[in-house]
Amino acid sequence: MDTSSIVILDFGSQYTQLIARRIREQNVFSAVLPCTASLEEIQAYKPCGIILSGGPSSVYDADAPPADPRVLDMGLPVLGICYGLQFITYHLGGKVRSAEKREYGHAEAYIEDVANPLFAGLPASVNVWMSHGDEALELPPGFRRIAKTANAIAGIANPERRIWAVQFHPEVRHTAHGAELLHNFVFHICQAKPDWTPEHFIQSTVNAIREKVGDGHAICALSGGVDSSVAAVLVDRAIGDRLTCVFVNNGVLRKNEFFKVQENLREKLGLNLVAVDASSRFLSRLAGVTDPEKKRKIIGNEFISVFDDEAARILQSFGDSGKEVAWLVQGTLYPDVIESSSVKGPSQTIKSHHNVGGLPENMKLKLIEPLRDLFKDEVRRIGADLGMPQEILQRQPFPGPGLAVRIVGEVTPERVALLQEADDIVVTEIRNAGLYQQIWQSFAVLLPVKSVGVMGDQRTYAYTCAVRAVHSDDGMTADWVPLPYDVLKKVSSRIVNEVRGINRVVYDITSKPPGTIEWE
Ligand code: XMP
Repeated sequence: MDTSSIVILDFGSQYTQLIARRIREQNVFSAVLPCTASLEEIQAYKPCGIILSGGPSSVYDADAPPADPRVLDMGLPVLGICYGLQFITYHLGGKVRSAEKREYGHAEAYIEDVANPLFAGLPASVNVWMSHGDEALELPPGFRRIAKTANAIAGIANPERRIWAVQFHPEVRHTAHGAELLHNFVFHICQAKPDWTPEHFIQSTVNAIREKVGDGHAICALSGGVDSSVAAVLVDRAIGDRLTCVFVNNGVLRKNEFFKVQENLREKLGLNLVAVDASSRFLSRLAGVTDPEKKRKIIGNEFISVFDDEAARILQSFGDSGKEVAWLVQGTLYPDVIESSSVKGPSQTIKSHHNVGGLPENMKLKLIEPLRDLFKDEVRRIGADLGMPQEILQRQPFPGPGLAVRIVGEVTPERVALLQEADDIVVTEIRNAGLYQQIWQSFAVLLPVKSVGVMGDQRTYAYTCAVRAVHSDDGMTADWVPLPYDVLKKVSSRIVNEVRGINRVVYDITSKPPGTIEWE
């Protein structure tokens, strides 16, 4: 890595990713590694500083995360945050105890060492966010207290050893001046350079792909969404038409999507694209299936099989040289990478997500994942710098199994057609109200519930449609959106009037948890 970087060791805090984001916002690359990473793995990033995150454990727990304390002796500046402070205290000979008064929420921190470079530019008293059960009781030799709250030690330092630590969380927005504190650590203490910029990322990624692929060929499964499109454009920049993109119609796309996405990818992005209409294949496999997990598995497996067939055809067209040097492009993002290596291990499967993640094992192709260091909003920034249209970059997420997980019960061609119409009305009206980009996802769900209605003096007996709109940062949690009544009114009246087969519209007011965003 030829840019400055900061390594964050993750002790399992819910805020660890936020630390990385705050540092990257200052144009410095930061990588989150599990706290169990070896010194060699840390050194591979050539970091100019190390941050130890917070975490739920106590240093005295039998199952406390087994991090290597030699990380404190690497000669690099270290900043401990919350559990990170306790880790430093404990391993360097101080004492930690269970706090008499648990601090959770806002607290006032008093800076005692105002000249400390960590606190440059900060006022003498700062409102900070605390979330801890343990606290430092006795400092290790050579350390001194640099900040305190009414109840606890809030900051410690040993400038000779270049180790600093705070008990509060500077990475959360609730901590006033938190970003400045991290800025001070990264620039004043670690002497990092702000060289992690979109132009630099694009240039170095394109060069690296060119070098990796050489004269070879690559294929990419495109969904038309932000991640796979940006990944494809980067690879296209590097190897041009030696990249072939494959876009599959699985029969459960949104209204006109098969054509719109082709137009976007071919005409607006100039990608070399093969579009495969496999809708009847998918829909016949889905006939009679009502179980959500079965639907997901069928679509996932069928996708792999369609893509396999296409890939074999494409590889054949490359001739012998192409077959030997074939790569698969994937739009894997950083949160997926961190998730799979987190100290907490894989979480319980709520839904088996379908994306192209299952492909390589099956296909034995070498992987190119140009976005595996980026968060979603960084991908959008890169896409904008690549000159990609906002229409693609600002698209709301759409699940791999498409409308199949928004049709409760059996998926039939008639139900897909009904939902496509209703969904199109929801999205159009939300766009017309200027709300599309402010909302994480907004869509319609078709319920297998029929109810009685009356239209034009006629009795109707038709399906129910639910409208769902949620705010979210990452899809892990979500809040339902209080859409304005006039938007709901328009949506409801248009669906009932224009979609023959739906006579009732309801609004889903469930957040996640306890609901999930998709209904299945
Ligand atoms: P849930 O329904 O689990 O969804 O709250 C969280 C986010 O993930 C999207 N989603 C998927 N994305 N493949 C995907 O690529 C899938 O199988 C899949 N299932 C759900 C969902 O739209 C939401 O943004």
